[in-house]
Amino acid sequence: MTDLLEIQGLHARVGTKEILRGVDLVVGPGEIHAVMGPNGSGKSTLAHVLAGRPGPEVTAGRAFLNGTDLLALPPHERARAGLFLGLQHPIEVPGVTTLAALEHAGVPLAQLAATVQASAEEVGLRVDLLDRPLNVGLSGGEAKRNEIVQLQVLRPKVAVLDEIDSGLDVDALEDVGATLTRAVATWNLSVVAITHFRRLLDVLPATSVHVFVDGRIVESGDKSLAVRLERDGYMSFL
Ligand SMILES: Nc1ncnc2c1ncn2[C@@H]1O[C@H](COP(=O)(O)OP(=O)(O)OP(=O)(O)O)[C@@H](O)[C@H]1O
Ligand SMILES: [Mg+2]
Repeated sequence: MTDLLEIQGLHARVGTKEILRGVDLVVGPGEIHAVMGPNGSGKSTLAHVLAGRPGPEVTAGRAFLNGTDLLALPPHERARAGLFLGLQHPIEVPGVTTLAALEHAGVPLAQLAATVQASAEEVGLRVDLLDRPLNVGLSGGEAKRNEIVQLQVLRPKVAVLDEIDSGLDVDALEDVGATLTRAVATWNLSVVAITHFRRLLDVLPATSVHVFVDGRIVESGDKSLAVRLERDGYMSFL
């Protein structure tokens, strides 16, 4: 089995502060990896660096998607190569509807029409919200569901989802978990799910769980690692 996403010794800084301090992570096709770590440890920074969001500066290390050097590409080409980033705080884009954004991403209109309504229903997002400016005025939970609708339509190879579960009510959490699980089964989507909550793993069966502290993965294991985290906290990993 080829590795789909491969991160090797990734270092990055913001300003003069080193935030990523040697991240190694290998994700195979159809695998679900949960990344759990304390506030400010660099999880979102890792997601941003992978997607090419301006801000952090990579100082060492590499990242490959299906053998393609991600860090050498501009953000839109990383997306085209099959990378999807679900933001912790989805950005409001006045003037561009979700539907228009997806159309501009290169999804043919016929395909868009066929998938978008079913996807919205699957994650319990009111369809009319897709025709509103992207994330403008959406509630926290609606914006997260909207991320999943976009994922469903774009069908990426790898989805890095930054706290996709934060702000979701219990029903939405079930819906999002089921939708992602189905995506894994349907097109072999790989997922890197950054989360603070073990309960995400009740609805999204993680292949691996990684503990992320101070800019790097300090321990990896199965779901039992999340149980230990919940019981003992992060200090027990230092
Ligand atoms: N643009 C920036 N300017 C200054 N500091 C920044 C910037 N972006 C990130 N940082 C700092 O980098 C560190 C890591 O932030 P990051 O958002 O990656 O943490 P996180 O692990 O995602 O935390 P959380 O669980 O709270 O979402 C934090 O100390 C943050 O303040
Ligand atoms: Mg974060």
